[in-house]
Amino acid sequence: MCGIVGAVAQRNVVPILIEGLKRLEYRGYDSAGVAVIDKGRCIARTRSVGKVRELEARLDVGLAGGTGIAHTRWATHGRPATENAHPHICRKTVALVHNGIIENHEALRRAQMQLGYEFTSETDTEVIVHEIYRRLAETGDLLQAVRAALGSLRGAYALGVITNQEPDRLVAARRGSPLVIGIGIGEHFIASDVAALLPVTQRFMFLEEGDVADITREAVTIYNAEGEQVERPIKQSEMSADAVARGEYRHYMLKEIHEQPRAIADTLENRIGLHNVYEEAFGHTAAVIFAQIEAVQIVACGTSYHAGLVGRYWLEGLAGLPCAVEVASEFRYRKPRLAPNTLFVTLSQSGETADTLAALAYARQLGLAHTLSICNAPESSLVRASELVLMTQAGPEIGVASTKAFTTQLVALLLLVAVLGRHRGLGPAGEAQLVNLLRSLPTQIEQVLALDAAVQAWVPYFANKQHALFLGRGTQYPVAMEGALKLKEISYIHAEAYPAGELKHGPLALVDSDMPVVAVAPNNELLEKLHSNLQEVRARGGELFVFADGANGIREDAQTHVITVPPTDDLLAPIIYTVLLQLLAYHVAVSKGADIDQPRNLAKSVTVE
Ligand code: F6R
Repeated sequence: MCGIVGAVAQRNVVPILIEGLKRLEYRGYDSAGVAVIDKGRCIARTRSVGKVRELEARLDVGLAGGTGIAHTRWATHGRPATENAHPHICRKTVALVHNGIIENHEALRRAQMQLGYEFTSETDTEVIVHEIYRRLAETGDLLQAVRAALGSLRGAYALGVITNQEPDRLVAARRGSPLVIGIGIGEHFIASDVAALLPVTQRFMFLEEGDVADITREAVTIYNAEGEQVERPIKQSEMSADAVARGEYRHYMLKEIHEQPRAIADTLENRIGLHNVYEEAFGHTAAVIFAQIEAVQIVACGTSYHAGLVGRYWLEGLAGLPCAVEVASEFRYRKPRLAPNTLFVTLSQSGETADTLAALAYARQLGLAHTLSICNAPESSLVRASELVLMTQAGPEIGVASTKAFTTQLVALLLLVAVLGRHRGLGPAGEAQLVNLLRSLPTQIEQVLALDAAVQAWVPYFANKQHALFLGRGTQYPVAMEGALKLKEISYIHAEAYPAGELKHGPLALVDSDMPVVAVAPNNELLEKLHSNLQEVRARGGELFVFADGANGIREDAQTHVITVPPTDDLLAPIIYTVLLQLLAYHVAVSKGADIDQPRNLAKSVTVE
């Protein structure tokens, strides 16, 4: 989604803005732009379609200034085009960058056109810059102008605004889209997330909903939605500037796949004892709340939703709790009937997914008192809005295709199963067994990562195919869904996942030699049934690619390729087998020359509905 960077400093901020944009590239975008107040007190701007490096190549050598804003745009209103890229400027006086969606832009546009404002883009954003200009002309004060203009907007925004009338001032605002302020020495910054500013500061203030910030080199003054001056605490980030470097890896996605043993070990650290899970890891009120819980509702999007689907098998099967799972964009518009003692669990890597945030707000409105967020971004909106929080310690995930966030979410869900199950008869022995298994997980993942070459050897069977089918049963069904999502989003091969037992109810009609069928087959009680399903594929001339536990008797033949996976407990199998599906998607996409870390049309942080 759109990314914002801004700065007020003594030095030329253009290199800071460009570096910041590069660090936001992972969010997904199609055009970029930068504007500064130059030496002659004029707003100078460069914009371009495509990557930040293309913007950089177009920058005028002389472009320099101590106050500036920059943006990566992910098209919503108006196609990807230079004239739609931000910053938008009104009458050479006000420049603005925006992340979010203005719902009443059409009405504002009509009114502004009648007042003689000229529109140069198809965006919803342009009405904001005109609205601010109009108020600036009345008040002569940028802060007042922004606050007045915000009163006429409906929708979501994070904004950065500058004017050549007050060249040392930057005004920022947040409602519904993330924005942080970076605190330097004699200089200040804004950005959509912390990662953008790590080369210049590790100290941050996080704006709250409705906040407006008046930022100069010397000071940051924040006003809340009611217009009262408020203090927001300064927090020290533990992320280092090179935490997001790609290192020896060709792509972030590959790096992040290989980081999973470490990410999982970090997620377990300080959360488990010798034989038990620490309930306090979820928050100091967790023990009291968990004792009252009688059902669980999980809500998430995309890959995080798939983690929730696996979690349902565990919560019902091990913790003995009724559990429902739903995608956030559906949940938020339904009229669900939820028991009062339901724990509402949101899963999210970014903690900024608009639908998930809205679903959480809706759950509150429906009267659910107890909320838990399992999230990878500390200080994200979701974390701040949830009663209980369990952070996945995956570290920054830059590749748009989620990998380590997913497997650490599964680990977090197992921790939840342990603490909720404890109140419902999982028993100390069951909990101790679960903890032991979790402890062995990082080493087990190292072992499957060593199967990388075998996975790569399958690439030629997929690279020229248009479609692929993924099969699994039980907890492996959502794993198959995740494998199919990974393949489609980065290699652009159409991929569908089915519970293997459903094949004969329709999808079998698609099976022929042009449709590779991937199956995940750990050694569990559904194996016999899966065997028959695979037989159904073979009988129709389908070619099978099976990740199988060595003990389960699936043999290679002319139609069946098998990668033997080291034996693992059924409980850990969804995590182990997912890693192999991630590698398969990655290598197929690389062979097709795809843009692995920034697939077309996708954004890392989906901050609009
Ligand atoms: C797919 C992917 C997306 C995200 C989804 C939710 O690889 O990354 O499907 O899982 O956009 O994002 P978060 O987890 O940040 O809420």
